[in-house]
Amino acid sequence: MNDIIQFLQQRNSAPKLTAPAPSLAERESIFSAAMRAPDHARLRPWRFISVDEDRRQALGVLFRDALLARNPQADESALEKAEKSPLRAPLIVVVVASVSAHPKVPPIEQKLSAGCAAHGVLLAAQALGYAGVWRTGDAAFDRNVMDGLGLANNEEITGFLYLGTREGDPKPLPSLATTDFVSQW
Ligand SMILES: Cc1cc2nc3c(=O)[nH]c(=O)nc-3n(C[C@H](O)[C@H](O)[C@H](O)COP(=O)(O)O)c2cc1C
Repeated sequence: MNDIIQFLQQRNSAPKLTAPAPSLAERESIFSAAMRAPDHARLRPWRFISVDEDRRQALGVLFRDALLARNPQADESALEKAEKSPLRAPLIVVVVASVSAHPKVPPIEQKLSAGCAAHGVLLAAQALGYAGVWRTGDAAFDRNVMDGLGLANNEEITGFLYLGTREGDPKPLPSLATTDFVSQW
């Protein structure tokens, strides 16, 4: 079996992540691989914000404050959960879709490109021996979170990619039959 095909077939998210995270040099490889995402009109409608270990707490506070603003009745356990959520990995990469007006490339296509770039980050990280998981949740759609991360009005959070080293065994992958998803016209 072709090694690359086998690698693609075995991509596996990791909910439990620990240090080390990809180094700066490895991130360079990861981001340059991700930027080979398909991209109509070469708009490059993505950007990546790294939140390193020392900034995770600040991101947690941003999540907590945003939850409280969304829901002033939120109880302490929910607030604490939001605040601690960025601590689940040594590195978080926020993938941002930067959407611009274009006569031939509607916003959906630009957001899809950013999604492909996010997938590229996960694949490249795994290729380097790391692991990750793509998360969103309410925080991803919260304007206060977007503002706190410095997003412009034309930008959206495509995902929070939690990255690091897998803790524990990889989960078994479901066996999916291509025949359930593929047909001929
Ligand atoms: C756009 C998007 C958002 C997601 N958000 C979450 C999330 O908030 N929490 C979560 O546990 N999984 C989330 N997932 C799913 C995981 O990233 C992952 O795909 C899932 O755990 C299945 O694992 P697998 O990709 O290894 O099959 C999201 C996936 C996508 C594509």
